Parts: sequence; C-alpha cells; structure tokens
Amino acid sequence: MKILQNIDTHEKVVRVEDKATGLIAYIAIHSTLLGPATGGCRLFDYETEGDALADTLRLSKGMTYKNAIADVGLGGGKSVIMGPLDPSKREAAFIAFGRAVHQLGGDYIAAEDVGVSVNDIHNIAKSTKFATGLGDNGNGFGGDPAPYTALGVLGGIKATAHFALKRSDLEGVRIAIQGIGSVGSRLCKLLSDSGAKLVVADIDSAKITEVCDLYQAEPSSLNDILLSDVDIIAPCAMGRAITVDIAKSMRAVAIAGAANNQLASPLAGEVLFNRQIAYAPDYVINAGGIIMAGAEYLKNLTEAKMTKKIDEIYGRILGLHVQSKHEQKPSYLLADKLAEDIFAKAFLEREVA
Ligand code: NAI
Repeated sequence: MKILQNIDTHEKVVRVEDKATGLIAYIAIHSTLLGPATGGCRLFDYETEGDALADTLRLSKGMTYKNAIADVGLGGGKSVIMGPLDPSKREAAFIAFGRAVHQLGGDYIAAEDVGVSVNDIHNIAKSTKFATGLGDNGNGFGGDPAPYTALGVLGGIKATAHFALKRSDLEGVRIAIQGIGSVGSRLCKLLSDSGAKLVVADIDSAKITEVCDLYQAEPSSLNDILLSDVDIIAPCAMGRAITVDIAKSMRAVAIAGAANNQLASPLAGEVLFNRQIAYAPDYVINAGGIIMAGAEYLKNLTEAKMTKKIDEIYGRILGLHVQSKHEQKPSYLLADKLAEDIFAKAFLEREVA
C-alpha cells in the first residue's frame, strides 16, 4: 500500500496493489471530521489509473457532504478497484483489498457500490472489521444498501413532483429511468406501485425486457432516455450524465435520481437553474443506502429510527427546491452550503473543546 503525497484536498489517498491477484485499487479518505470516512467500494473497468483516481477523489468528497447532511455520524471516503478482475481470483482480490483497508486502522469503512456485491464485502470482512453492508447487525437490518437507496430516492422524487408538478402523488406521472441495476430496478417497482408511468433504458437489454414486462414500462434508447418527453428524469447509472447539452435540450421539468455526481460540470448545473429545471441534489436524494449502512456499522439506531432518517429525505429535498426558488440560487449550491455549515460547526467544536 502506497500513500500518495501531494493530494492536499483529501486527508489521505492510497494506492493498493496486490501482485498475486492483479488487484489495483485506490482508497481516498476525504474527511474524518464527522467520523470514520465511510463510502462504497466501486469495481469498474476504468480506461486508465488516472480515471480511477479521479473518480475516487470526486466520489469520496461527495460522501463527506452526503454523510454530513444525512447526519449519519460518519466522515467521507470511497474506494475504487480497477476492473476487470480475474474471476478465479476475485475472492482473493477482495481479501487483499480488505488487508489494505485494515492497515488504515478504521479511518476508512468499506461498503457496496457499483460492481461490488454483498458477497464481495463479506470477502473484504475476512481481513478487516472495517466494513459494512454485511447483513443483519442485530437490530433487524443490514446488507445490501440498494433497497434503502431506492426508498430514499422515491421520497426525493415525490418531493420533486410536489414542488415542480404541484402533485401530492405520482399517479400517472411520467418518469424516465436511466440504468436499471441494483437501485434502478427497485426504484422501478416502487414508482410503478405508486402509479407512475415509466420509460427505461439500460445497456443490458435483458434488464429492459424484464422491467417492461413487469411494470408495462416503455423502452427507450440509451441516447434518448434523458431527452424523453416525461415529467421527471431519474439518472440511476453512472455519474456525469447531465452534460450541458442534455441540460439545454432535456424536456422534463425535473431531475431526481440515484446516481452520484450527476452534473458533468458546474455549467450544466447553471443551465438547469436558468431553465428552472428542478434538480434534486444527488448526494442528498441518494443517502438512504449510507443511512442504513452507517447505522449497521455504528449499531446506533433501531430499525424504526433508521427508516425515519430515510423518510426525512423527502422534506430535505422539498426544502432545497423551495429555498432555491425563494433565494434564486441553485439547489446543489444550497446543499453544499448546508454541508459546509455542518463542517464549520464541527470544526469549531473540535478546535475549541
Ligand atoms: P448497478 O451497477 O447495479 O446499476 C447500474 C446500471 O446502469 C446497470 O444496470 C448498467 O447496465 C446501467 N448502465 C450503465 N451505463 C449506462 C448507460 N450509459 N445508460 C443506461 N444504463 C447504463 O449500480 P447501482 O448500485 O444501481 O448504482 C447506480 C448509481 O447509483 C451509481 O451512480 C451509484 O454510485 C449510485 N448510488 C448507488 C447506491 C447503492 O446503494 N447501490 C447508493 C448511492 C448512490
């Protein structure tokens, strides 16, 4: 494990290499101000190590903001593993990754993210206790965060529909979902159960067929999904989906989805704001999973209290939309400010104590 110097935006960034399994990974600890840096481990086929490192840096910062606003009692971190892994060495690679996590002494807590399953987290946990998303923690919940993320996103979509469409329910509301993986597929069910009409796209056509059969959803092409003639778009695939071009030409009046880092650039956010497209800030709406995984790790909440925290996402998103309209400031900047006020308070308390 090699500690990377000269990355002064983060507390610690390490590169992990295990020659026996071919594992190459990065772990970024953005901040431990509010607690151990906690965030998912992503397995993705990055083109270059530079891409992997950049993703870890971006995502770990997002986790600091997400965990602060969701009040989970944790700091922000993230890790990425360069894919693809040799399937015959996958278990050993995650065990090796767990050894690196362990060497960080509890400053980073690993959980599931794109490409990483509950089983992989169990393999990480063979060499470290600093992992979560494993299973029932004794309080009646635990394991895969995706269902909890989907639940929180549903609340955020309802709040967004309330604000942007003046709707108190989702009956007949048209929603386009980009990416029907762990979160997106569960979100489709929740939205369909709420009466929404779905348009879906995924690079995996089998998933589209399944969702269309189950929920009478309409299939869309990968290129058109974000430009669909719907009320709300829900990006639930990879980050940076909302480019300036998409922001300029999308037809929906709102964006509310699960993906991390949805805005490809600050300019894309500015275009959305100028077009009065209501944007539910990604790290606020998608906090359900970390609320659950954080409580699984810390064992500090009953199931009822943990669920209540996820339910609070509705009010938080509605509040940001309303504040954005009143103060004429983009919702994602208001979310950043909310988190930064929490950091300032925690910093002062720590320094003055
Ligand atoms: P996943 O890997 O299970 O699903 C992603 C889906 O998107 C896959 O079905 C994939 O085929 C599809 N996809 C990829 N590129 C696409 C494209 N260009 N167009 C359409 N579909 C595409 O991942 P998961 O866990 O569902 O996460 C989705 C997003 O939500 C990610 O950005 C993740 O960081 C974020 N997120 C996930 C959480 C969780 O609890 N799993 C928690 C918070 C955020």
